[in-house]
Amino acid sequence: MTINWHNYYADRTKHMTGSQIRQFFALTERPEVISFAGGFPGNEFFPCKDISAALAALVLEDGKQALQYTSTEGIYELRNYLAQRMTLEGKSNSPENIIITDGSQQGLDLLSRILVNPGETVLVEEPAYIGGMSAIKSYGGIPIGIEMDEQGVLPAVMEKTIEKLIKDGNKPKLFYTVPNFQNPTGYTTSLERRLKVLDLAYRYNIIIIEDNPYGNLCYEGEVPSSYMAIDKGEQVIYLGSYSKILIPGIRIGWMAGSQSLIEKVSLAKQTTNLCSSTLGQQLAYRLSAEGYVDMHINKLIDLYREKRDVMLNSMKRYFPADVIFSEPKGGFFVWVKFPDYYPPSREILNLALKNNVAFVHGEGFYSNISSGIHGARFSFSQPNAEEVEKGIKILGNILQELGCDTKLKAVGH
Ligand SMILES: Cc1ncc(COP(=O)(O)O)c(C=O)c1O
Repeated sequence: MTINWHNYYADRTKHMTGSQIRQFFALTERPEVISFAGGFPGNEFFPCKDISAALAALVLEDGKQALQYTSTEGIYELRNYLAQRMTLEGKSNSPENIIITDGSQQGLDLLSRILVNPGETVLVEEPAYIGGMSAIKSYGGIPIGIEMDEQGVLPAVMEKTIEKLIKDGNKPKLFYTVPNFQNPTGYTTSLERRLKVLDLAYRYNIIIIEDNPYGNLCYEGEVPSSYMAIDKGEQVIYLGSYSKILIPGIRIGWMAGSQSLIEKVSLAKQTTNLCSSTLGQQLAYRLSAEGYVDMHINKLIDLYREKRDVMLNSMKRYFPADVIFSEPKGGFFVWVKFPDYYPPSREILNLALKNNVAFVHGEGFYSNISSGIHGARFSFSQPNAEEVEKGIKILGNILQELGCDTKLKAVGH
């Protein structure tokens, strides 16, 4: 008998929405497509031989531990290593302040589960990381976007929004942010903005969830101190990840926060997966402690910087002058804004796909979809430098034609 599963699903599942990006993965994965859509790391940079040797040594030398379950919080050595690292970066942490997660995405899910009641508002950046908003929404939370510029969210808009939500009886208690090389814009929140946002957080008792998967991939200058490092108290929960600085396949990330919060997260995690992969944690620990991860990050910085430069130079060369784009100093993403007399970026994407080029149109990144219709996210992480130039050139030709058409229409010719 065929079952109508909709009759069986729990009420809470009605808030679960898939990512718009995943919906067209099948299209972008065709070999002939040059894809700027996925935010995956470039797999040509995965250190397969080194990982293979490290795994073999780990299993031979310490297999009885590495292949066993471990504590829900994660192996002590890795938590201790991460706590010391974070202490060096300015926030005194101990292993009790850290829990290992299956990537930072699990951190976002666990935090939404223990902190967000159905119907509660959560402040997010506008545009924001889709996976963060999906986690919030899946527990019935309502993401409320705060407008950004190249320096991060606008504190005045944030304050006004909080005041309005208080008036409406739905005061937010959380702000979710990706302050370094943000997904999707590539923007980095300046130190001045971080201080202002933190000040608002203190004034309105708002907890900041700082998600930082890209901060180490810095191609120019330095990233400002983290929210966690400049916070004087327990206002910040920090999420880190090995996905972009080593490999996502081990699914290892971590969360740092007050001990009491970490204990609650650990309770929630117990029923999710008992513990994160012991093998993955041991591998991450060994490679971190022996300095391999830092060395690898230095290599990645040079390799990704080259791709970023090719993308930005190609956009400058091939895109019409009225198309604006961000110039990220790290991470994977360039945010493109088409003038509003262009067709919606969703339509431009359809034209691009016909020419075997893919990117992500902007709508899914906005809590209010209509605001995103002229934005688009381009990731330079996966295609090689040659493909980056080729893909941007193809798109440039499409845009050149569109730009001329629409401008002529706008002036009534
Ligand atoms: C901003 C942001 N947060 C979290 C994640 C999830 O990463 P992971 O779970 O692999 O650590 C991603 C992945 O692309 C991301 O871009």
